[in-house]
Amino acid sequence: MKFTTTLSALLTLAAASQSAVATGEFQNLQLRQGGDANALLQGLRDNNLTSLANVLSQHPAVTERILADNSEKTLLAPNDDAIAMLPSWVTSNSSRLEATLLQHVLRGNFETDKLNAYPLHTIGHSLLNNSDFSKLPGGAGQAVALAKSGNRTFVAEAVNNDTFVQQSVKVDTVTVLPISQAITVPGSVTDTLRFLGYTGISTLLANVQNGALANTIDSLPGVTMFVPTNDAITKFTATNPNPTDIPTVLGQHVVAARVVYSPLLIDQGSLISASGQDIVFDNNAGTVKVGNFTAKILQTDIIAQQGVIHQIDNVLASTALDTGRAAQAQKSAEASVDAEKAQSISGPVSGKNAITTQGTDVPAAQQGSGANNRSANDNTDNAGSGQTESAIGNGTNGNNGGASQAGNSNGSNGNGNGSGNQNGNGVDHRNPNAASASTANTALAASAVLAASILALVL
Ligand SMILES: *[C@@H]1O[C@H](CO)[C@@H](O)[C@H](O)[C@H]1NC(C)=O
Ligand SMILES: *[C@@H]1O[C@H](CO)[C@@H](O)[C@H](O)[C@H]1NC(C)=O
Ligand SMILES: *[C@@H]1O[C@H](CO)[C@@H](O)[C@H](O)[C@H]1NC(C)=O
Ligand SMILES: *[C@@H]1O[C@H](CO)[C@@H](O)[C@H](O)[C@H]1NC(C)=O
Ligand SMILES: *[C@@H]1O[C@H](CO)[C@@H](O)[C@H](O)[C@H]1NC(C)=O
Ligand SMILES: *[C@@H]1O[C@H](CO)[C@@H](O)[C@H](O)[C@H]1NC(C)=O
Ligand SMILES: *[C@@H]1O[C@H](CO)[C@@H](O)[C@H](O)[C@H]1NC(C)=O
Ligand SMILES: *[C@@H]1O[C@H](CO)[C@@H](O)[C@H](O)[C@H]1NC(C)=O
Ligand SMILES: *[C@@H]1O[C@H](CO)[C@@H](O)[C@H](O)[C@H]1NC(C)=O
Ligand SMILES: *[C@@H]1O[C@H](CO)[C@@H](O)[C@H](O)[C@H]1NC(C)=O
Repeated sequence: MKFTTTLSALLTLAAASQSAVATGEFQNLQLRQGGDANALLQGLRDNNLTSLANVLSQHPAVTERILADNSEKTLLAPNDDAIAMLPSWVTSNSSRLEATLLQHVLRGNFETDKLNAYPLHTIGHSLLNNSDFSKLPGGAGQAVALAKSGNRTFVAEAVNNDTFVQQSVKVDTVTVLPISQAITVPGSVTDTLRFLGYTGISTLLANVQNGALANTIDSLPGVTMFVPTNDAITKFTATNPNPTDIPTVLGQHVVAARVVYSPLLIDQGSLISASGQDIVFDNNAGTVKVGNFTAKILQTDIIAQQGVIHQIDNVLASTALDTGRAAQAQKSAEASVDAEKAQSISGPVSGKNAITTQGTDVPAAQQGSGANNRSANDNTDNAGSGQTESAIGNGTNGNNGGASQAGNSNGSNGNGNGSGNQNGNGVDHRNPNAASASTANTALAASAVLAASILALVL
């Protein structure tokens, strides 16, 4: 079995970066480092990507980024229908539109016939590194998940598969892969959970000190979150857990300062939770385990502004808390980030080019946790080729179908406007107005070590 997949969730919270330059300058724009903007636009037009060419011609800053430094890029090119379907809250806002365009440009080359098979994904980093829109470690560009399934290849978003609709064409250093629907810029972790209808965990998070834990998660410098289904949360709460244990239990589901996409998870073995426990990943079973609690991974690589979400079928209900261990793991991971490297990751993400690793000062495995002792750098590289064997997301298990997730979301995200399938066409565009309802709670110290926050909430 091979798998690992993703879905992207998106929202937007972008603050206004300055938007485009005057359109008229474009005709003669000869890009500094050599790329020829007019040749790129003509190449797009020659391939029926006229609308995209027109949009880019009005946003030369984006074209310049695409052609900058002469490095290989992959342009996931929305076709004319896809451009026509862009919602007005994207097209009417220059900074959001530019962010959306930049998210469609990946560094490096991605050959569609070599993509990981759904539900496993191949992950790329885009040019969207504006910190209003992407809050990944080191300022890395926001991630995009690609996959193939049978004879289809697509960008996998949480509520959408954006199908590759034509053969790729090469224009200068840019490989153009036309897609049927545009990608949406992802929102924060907690907005993404709400958007996708993860009401169970959203409610638990919102209830912890008026959203303080939720806000802390959204302020982490990178995050991997294992999110139980609503059914799993319902079963857990039916056991009447001690309320003071809830922050600790939630903390078992969070890995602070690490962004472990599924191909990296397969390489990784184990992680350390924000409550300081080993999260042990079993690639053959497709499970994660903390203490005596095991959960199957149902869906991987739901992209969020600060990192990645994987859906699981059970609550990792361990109440064991070791804040010192968690803090050390977080610091070690934070220290592993090399901004220059993070911003230049090219091609499929693997152990060799990941934005974060566990670092060199990681606590040893806990006795009896089942985790292997960690080496200083356990990032190997076996997941980029599409040949990875993993039980993650086996069969159709747990892929609830994005459409139903989106449909469930509108009651819980603030004002219900513009969320979900805005134009009835499965398009994964989220209205930023629908997402902002959650942000006003008391925040714990913004870049806090999460473990300290959890401890504060427990006490
Ligand atoms: C454009 O979108 C950004 C990001 O969501 C937002 O911060 C900004 O206020 C918007 N600008 C306008 C004029 O609506
Ligand atoms: C562009 O569209 C036209 C009309 O639909 C079609 O005949 C032509 O083959 C298309 N060209 C490419 C490169 O797809
Ligand atoms: C984004 O990346 C470009 C290089 O591609 C860099 O010049 C720019 O400073 C980065 N922006 C941010 C906000 O990090
Ligand atoms: C792709 O596979 C499906 C089902 O296996 C088949 O019906 C369809 O004709 C195939 N399409 C192409 C273009 O091969
Ligand atoms: C994306 O495609 C996969 C593979 O065919 C399918 O299982 C999944 O349900 C699709 N996702 C969405 C959101 O349509
Ligand atoms: C995955 O599916 C195969 C075939 O249906 C099955 O034999 C295997 O046990 C499944 N693995 C998991 C972890 O569910
Ligand atoms: C795990 O389960 C074993 C056996 O059921 C029990 O002895 C042990 O105390 C449990 N560990 C924890 C941390 O709950
Ligand atoms: C892991 O390594 C540490 C330090 O090197 C050592 O003290 C500990 O016994 C090892 N644990 C296991 C389970 O091998
Ligand atoms: C979401 O909105 C749609 C369209 O307005 C509506 O049909 C659907 O019932 C709503 N879903 C929920 C869970 O409220
Ligand atoms: C949703 O937003 C649009 C414009 O963004 C506005 O015209 C419409 O009235 C809003 N609908 C609701 C129900 O708030």
